[in-house]
Amino acid sequence: MRLSLALLLAGCGASMDGTLPDGGASVIPVDGGSGISATRAGLVSIAQSGAYLSWKAEPMAHKTTGPHGDTVRTFVNDPLYASLKSGNTSHPIGSVVVKELYSNGTRTGWAVDAKGDDGVWVFFEGFEPQLNQYFFRGTGNLCANCHASGIDFVLTTAAALP
Ligand code: HEC
Repeated sequence: MRLSLALLLAGCGASMDGTLPDGGASVIPVDGGSGISATRAGLVSIAQSGAYLSWKAEPMAHKTTGPHGDTVRTFVNDPLYASLKSGNTSHPIGSVVVKELYSNGTRTGWAVDAKGDDGVWVFFEGFEPQLNQYFFRGTGNLCANCHASGIDFVLTTAAALP
């Protein structure tokens, strides 16, 4: 019963409404600890912890050229920063990028993309107060389809970072 339910969910996992409930069992190996689960809740916790505020970041918020609200500011963790600056075409497991989303100067939410220990990207975007609007795994979804034109699904360039 569990198995058939899992197969059923896998079959419709790429629904376009962004309501994929969970991210499966993969883990984002960050900060040398036991890691953060590659789930919607895990990605929200990365944003809410505020730890990303000490990461390398774009110097200031700028107008988005994507469907990301009004202005945005992107922060990348050390593994992803090193990979971007090295010009790698594939980023390491444990890569995390957090994007602050602003409307009229107020932060209204976050987008967080991370590569889990299975090598699969997970994508989250949420707006206050629910912070739960979009969550996807892998390719063939709303987020990945557009991000596929980036370098391993990352659209922000190394040149935009210090
Ligand atoms: C129509 C294209 C498009 C779609 C769909 C899209 N994005 Fe983006 N995204 C962009 C662009 C362009 C950027 C570069 C920065 C900017 O201009 O906002 C970006 C940047 C980002 C960043 C900063 C890292 C990077 O790749 O530059 C994150 C995180 C992000 N998007 C998450 C998401 C999530 C999560 C979704 C799905 C809910 C999503 N995006 C859907 C176009 C898109």
